Formats: sequence, C-alpha cells, structure tokens
Amino acid sequence: MAEILIVDDDGQLRSSFEKLLTAEGHLVRTASSGEAGLEAVQERIPDLVVMDVRMPGMDGLEAFEAMHRIEPRLPVVIMTAYGSTDTAIKATKLGAYDYILKPFDIPDVLELISQALEAGRFMRAKVALTAAPGEEDDSEALIGQSRAMNEVYKSIGRVAGTDALVLIRGESGTGKELVARAIFQHSQRSKRPFMIINCVAIPDTLLESELFGYEKGAFTGATQRRIGKIEQANHGAVFLDEIGDMPVNIQAKILRLLQEKKIERLGGRETIDVDVRIIAATNRDLEAAVAEGAFREDLYYRLKVVTLTIPPLRDRKEDIPQLANYFLRRFARDMDMDNPGLTKEALEALMEYNWPGNVRELANALQKTLVFSRGGALGGPDVLKAVGDSKNGSCPLAPYSPDGPLRDWVRSCLAAPGDSAFDTCMDQIGRLVIREALEITDGNRTRAAKLLGLSRPTLLAKIEKYGLRIKAQIS
Ligand SMILES: Nc1ncnc2c1ncn2[C@@H]1O[C@H](COP(=O)(O)OP(=O)(O)OP(=O)(O)O)[C@@H](O)[C@H]1O
Ligand SMILES: [Mg+2]
Repeated sequence: MAEILIVDDDGQLRSSFEKLLTAEGHLVRTASSGEAGLEAVQERIPDLVVMDVRMPGMDGLEAFEAMHRIEPRLPVVIMTAYGSTDTAIKATKLGAYDYILKPFDIPDVLELISQALEAGRFMRAKVALTAAPGEEDDSEALIGQSRAMNEVYKSIGRVAGTDALVLIRGESGTGKELVARAIFQHSQRSKRPFMIINCVAIPDTLLESELFGYEKGAFTGATQRRIGKIEQANHGAVFLDEIGDMPVNIQAKILRLLQEKKIERLGGRETIDVDVRIIAATNRDLEAAVAEGAFREDLYYRLKVVTLTIPPLRDRKEDIPQLANYFLRRFARDMDMDNPGLTKEALEALMEYNWPGNVRELANALQKTLVFSRGGALGGPDVLKAVGDSKNGSCPLAPYSPDGPLRDWVRSCLAAPGDSAFDTCMDQIGRLVIREALEITDGNRTRAAKLLGLSRPTLLAKIEKYGLRIKAQIS
C-alpha cells in the first residue's frame, strides 16, 4: 500500500482517482489546488504525487518546483492536456517522474503509477547495512556476517562517500541492486534523485531514448520532446543495471558522459551539461564480452577501477541461517502469520543445497514453503520441495495439441462475435487460478493475495466478480 496525493482543481477527476486507487489498495489524499497540494506535502511526504498542470492560482509547475525543493526524490506524475505539454516537459526536465496526457486510459495510468511508485521506493526505501540479528526488521537490510559480506560492507563504506564510478559484479540474485542502493544512501547525493535503468529489460531501440531523451521529430513517433533519465537525475545518480548487456553504440555515449559530463538528446543539437554519479552492475563476464567485441575496452577499463564483487551464496554458506531467519520473519509478518521457524533438518537441507539462483532463490523457496505450510516449524521435506520446484515451471497445457480440448475451448470463446473474447478466456483462467490460491491458503485472502501478487482489494474484487464462495473466515 502506498500513499498517493492527487492534486487537481477538477473535483470529478479527484474522486474518480480516489475510487480507482483506493480499490488498488492505496491510501489516497486529495488537494484541489497547487497551494493545497504543497501544504499536503509539507504536512507529510506521500509516496507519489499525481498533479494537474493547469490550475488557477499556483499552477502544477510551480507547485512541483516547491515540492521538489522539499523532497527531490518524491516521484511526481504530471497530468496535462494535449497542447499544453510544454509545461509538463519542463517539469520532467526539472525532475518530475513523467507526464500523462488527458484524457487517459486507466490501465496506462495504473501502469505509470506503479512504475513511479517503484522508482520512489528504489530511491527512498532504506537499506540497512547489517544490524544485529533481529534489529533489521523495519527496513530492508543487507544480511550476512561472512568474511566475504563484511568485505562488501567495508567496500560500500569506502566508495560511498566518493563520487567514484562503481561497478558491482556478482551472479544473478546475489544482491547487486541492494548494494547499489546502499552505496547511494551512504553517499552525499542520497537526498537527490536516483534513477534505475535496466539495460536488459528495455529493448535496445528504447534504451537510448530512455537514457538520453529525444527532441521532437528525432524519429517517427517522436511527437514531443522527451527528457531522459540521465537528465532527470541531474545532481543525483543513475544505476545502470546489467551494463554488460548495453549495446555498443550506447556504451560510447556513456563513455562520453563519464569523460565530459555532457549528453545530447536524440535528434538534438544542444549539448547538455549533467552532473550524475554512475553506479553500474552486471552478472556478465565482461572480459569475455570485451574479447568478443561486444563490450568496449575503453569503457571496461574505466568501469573496472572501482569494482565491488559479491560472491555467490554457495561460497558463503555460513550466511544461510541468518538469511533464512531474516526472510522467514519478514514473510511471516507480511502474511500476518506467526513465524513457524525451521527445524534442524530444514536448515541442514538449506545448507546442503548449492543455490544457483543465490539469495533470490533462497528467499523465493522460503516464501513458497511458508505459503504452503500448515502450522508447525518448517521441516526438511517442506523446504526441499520448495527448492526443487522454485524455478517456475512452464504451463503444462502449453504447447497445447492442435486438436485438444483446450484449443476447442479457446475457439469457442473466440466464436462469440461482439463480445470481448480475450477477457472471457482470461476470466475463466483467472477464476481457476484464484480458486487454487484460495484452496492452498485455506481461504485466507491476505495470504492468497500475497501468493498471487495481487493487492488484497484487487483479489476481493475478483472473488466477487467470479462469484467464488469461500469458507467463512476472518482474514
Ligand atoms: N545479503 C542480502 N541480505 C538480504 N537480502 C538480500 C541479500 N542479497 C540479496 N537479497 C535479496 O535477494 C533478492 C535479489 O537481490 P538483488 O535484486 O539485489 O540481486 P541482483 O544481484 O541484482 O540480481 P540480478 O542479477 O538477477 O538482477 C532481493 O529480494 C534482495 O532483497
Ligand atoms: Mg539486479
């Protein structure tokens, strides 16, 4: 659940936002003017602001600037009508998260809101450098007292205060992102924006414009100027995640940024001075990538100067008990259940296993064990089962046979003209998935929502929509 502030002089829009976001499980505050919005932020900083640009009195841009002075890491999404995008673009240049054009599609807005909330969490959620066991409960924490992890903590301390370019290396799931956030939070820029760019998750064609932005007309479809993440993060930092997968042409631009502290938007002639710190991470074998010509040697040498390597979990198994206890405590709390603890056999099973997916795999296995648990300490077999199938299996129905019943059923859904066939299919599948989740969790809707990765209100709405009956219970 997040706290979202809606600022708009249009009462109807405020109340539809309020309904929509409350149904998503968020806490919504509203303000009817720029002044009132600013006051609301002064009173308590929300997780996200969604604000209209054009309001009588203090307009959205002015209110944004004042809010930004209070908390530069507060994500603000600006709403604007077509034709008044200039102001919205100006706001993103000054660090607003993004803007949306009115009238908008609800799914698009919800998607943008969830991205903005995630970006805010990334910048602001505290990562504690390991505290005494049991003390790390309120924030995320880097856990582990092995020699290797202590070296990592020392390096974080050493590099954080400098403006050095840092490269974090380690296999997938070893905690690179957590370490990046810890470095940022212990740096002088910690009160400034911190933007994350995942070079793998974004298609190559979009990556460049995400990073550097573009001018109107830079390519077909570039109908407005767009400010890139690097410019938005001015005076703060950028996390280039999976930099080993960055296309070579973009690597050249990053190198220039490092050397000259300058960028250009795509299709732009203006050279823009930026002051950003770069933190990068990769699980790739960069040396091999250089040898293959997939990674620029000059950038490699620059990146390599300050490298922080997180060893795989199998090389620091002594961290497993503490990590396991930490995750169990957290997940149990999130699911509103008592921490069942682990039996000796369960712990032995965890110590025995090699954890190719590292800490992430351990966390997932424990969460799964907890969801399926039926009371009592988690035993060896429970844990082993979760470990065994912690890799998501593919759907057993796929690929479905050309003349199987599933195909007939899909065809029959598609046969009803005028109806939304896709939704009809999905609803039936959704009903099945939700029914199973409720079955597994004995009808506990809070746990079922966790299991499904849905907010509780969303789940409740679906239960009602699908007319699912559940055993009466307080959850
Ligand atoms: N030392 C640790 N203490 C507590 N939690 C950890 C630790 N290391 C990793 N985690 C948790 O494990 C999960 C994976 O960590 P993270 O996303 O930082 O890994 P990563 O190295 O960036 O992986 P990838 O290369 O797949 O992106 C996260 O949920 C993170 O909070
Ligand atoms: Mg990562």
